Amino acid sequence: SPAGEVRPIVVLVGPPGSGKTSVGAALARLTGRQLRDTDKDIETSAGRPIPDIFLTDGEPVFRAMERAAVAAALTEHDGVLSLGGGSVLAESTRVLLKDQTVVFLSVTMPTGVRRTGLATNRPLLTGVNPRATYKALLDARLHLYREVATLEVATDELTVEQVAAVIIQEL
Ligand code: S3P
Repeated sequence: SPAGEVRPIVVLVGPPGSGKTSVGAALARLTGRQLRDTDKDIETSAGRPIPDIFLTDGEPVFRAMERAAVAAALTEHDGVLSLGGGSVLAESTRVLLKDQTVVFLSVTMPTGVRRTGLATNRPLLTGVNPRATYKALLDARLHLYREVATLEVATDELTVEQVAAVIIQEL
């Protein structure tokens, strides 16, 4: 690769509740690398939490910030990189991910709803019917996660440590 170019060792994608943050932390620990998370990068550069950005500026503004955050992280970070669940909605992001090692953490609707049920920080999942909302999100995105993935790990029946072990073994 060109001098000075860095890239993540692995990029984690998947819906909310698929375990990107916790698996990312385990992978970082096991590989001795740093974990970077584009949701956190956006909150840091915006100076406020993501639900505030959705509420004040709307989803399109958030998605523009997310495209920029992902592009920056992909060229700046050489550790483990966790992306926000909706990152793959952007075609420009999917193009960038074609050059990367991308792991899709998959999860079924019931498990995803259960894992995100206690979270209050997920603006897209706060509707009146979380099951239907989550199902719609999966239906709209499954093919996009699969389009960018080099490896898919079904996480429902696995612990965080087990998912991390599978990834290390497969990469
Ligand atoms: C989103 C997922 C969130 C965050 C934002 C939008 C999504 O990240 O980026 O609330 O569209 O799925 P997590 O996947 O880490 O929950």
